[in-house]
Amino acid sequence: MPKNAPVSTMHQPLTPDYYSYEWAAVESVSCSTDGGVVVSWKDGTQFECHPLWLRENAPGPGGIDPQSKENDLDIVDLNLETRITNAHIEDGALVVRFEPEGRSVTFHPGWLRHVAEGGHQPFASLPEPQLWKATDFKEPPTYDGSSVLESDQVLSQWLDDLLTHGMARLTGLPTTTNTVQAVANRIGVLRETNFGTTWNVSVDLNPNSTANTSMGLPAHSDLPSRETPPGFQLLHCLKNTVHGGSSTMTDGLAVAKYFEDEEPEIFELLTSKKWTFSNRDGCEDHRWTGPIIDKGDGRVPWTFRAFHPVRGFPAMPYRDITNAYLAMQRLGHVANSDAFQIQYDFLPGDLVAFDNRRILHGRTAFDSTSGTRKLRGTYLDCDEVYSRVRVLRRYLATTSANKSLPTARKDCNA
Ligand code: OGA
Ligand code: ZN
Repeated sequence: MPKNAPVSTMHQPLTPDYYSYEWAAVESVSCSTDGGVVVSWKDGTQFECHPLWLRENAPGPGGIDPQSKENDLDIVDLNLETRITNAHIEDGALVVRFEPEGRSVTFHPGWLRHVAEGGHQPFASLPEPQLWKATDFKEPPTYDGSSVLESDQVLSQWLDDLLTHGMARLTGLPTTTNTVQAVANRIGVLRETNFGTTWNVSVDLNPNSTANTSMGLPAHSDLPSRETPPGFQLLHCLKNTVHGGSSTMTDGLAVAKYFEDEEPEIFELLTSKKWTFSNRDGCEDHRWTGPIIDKGDGRVPWTFRAFHPVRGFPAMPYRDITNAYLAMQRLGHVANSDAFQIQYDFLPGDLVAFDNRRILHGRTAFDSTSGTRKLRGTYLDCDEVYSRVRVLRRYLATTSANKSLPTARKDCNA
């Protein structure tokens, strides 16, 4: 039972989700002229509930199904004349009467409060990104690999760091080929690409990608040739005995802020002039057009499309091209500068996870005759990481610490 629930409340009102809410007793309620209700709490918070939205969220049939917690009311069956003609409070819960149905329904006041505060929004329960520069970190925030594999609490902390800083590392993992998959499976479903579900980075592979050479890779993001480049990348070091080949990371959001504040005309070019990216492969032909810094529809996450091997064509008027090249070169200088870029060793057993659309990653060149360097990687979409962070927070808040999080989808609702 939620904290502060009245003793007399035998059954908690159904909510359209798997969360439990504190009993945030409603103080007053009034019907509005358009058939909705305005709910108020003691601290002055008010929430205007539309009658059609509230009706959809009433327990079913023709509303929220108690098993699936989903709305089973087909939109064509919703009576658009639905109005709330009477509303009152019982033990702090909202009770409304829908007309012309003549049905009374009780709504959980904690759930209403949660929606009033925007707690239902996609980024509400995720950590806020914190921008960083090279003075803030020498290397990514680091956790013991086996602890993340075994403990949901540590997994949750590691993922919180990953979302906050865009990067987080594990150390001391086994140097076996399936380790990267085992770590990724702790988070969610792996994103398969033309490289496979997991893939190798090594010079002894057929170099159909600049990654599989000993060249240095400047600050970049992977697969900008896709409509939605992979959200997160996991790279695991299996072997590294070469001279050189250090890892680099730059916070793209910090670089973007720098340009916005200090070189606004460059920022404008980076965010508005579009390029067409294409991979070069006999069997694949992925293409997408977008700006180097894609601000999307104004919500996070932004997407950096920055990797010269797969940048093909300017997608802008001829007169803009010189300035667009100039802006990209400024980005190259700043993103690879000591002020913004960190550089650190990549040791066998290390696994670094990073936001592939925010963090510009890279490596220094290495001497491939001096030893062997073998990495194994995989991608996950943002949705997988965000979902796991939300579920871990919900789960750890309500479950005893010694019970582990179900990972199989079918077990999750048990
Ligand atoms: C890549 C890449 C990093 C490395 O393969 O795209 O960034 O350390 N590799 O080799
Ligand atoms: Zn890369």
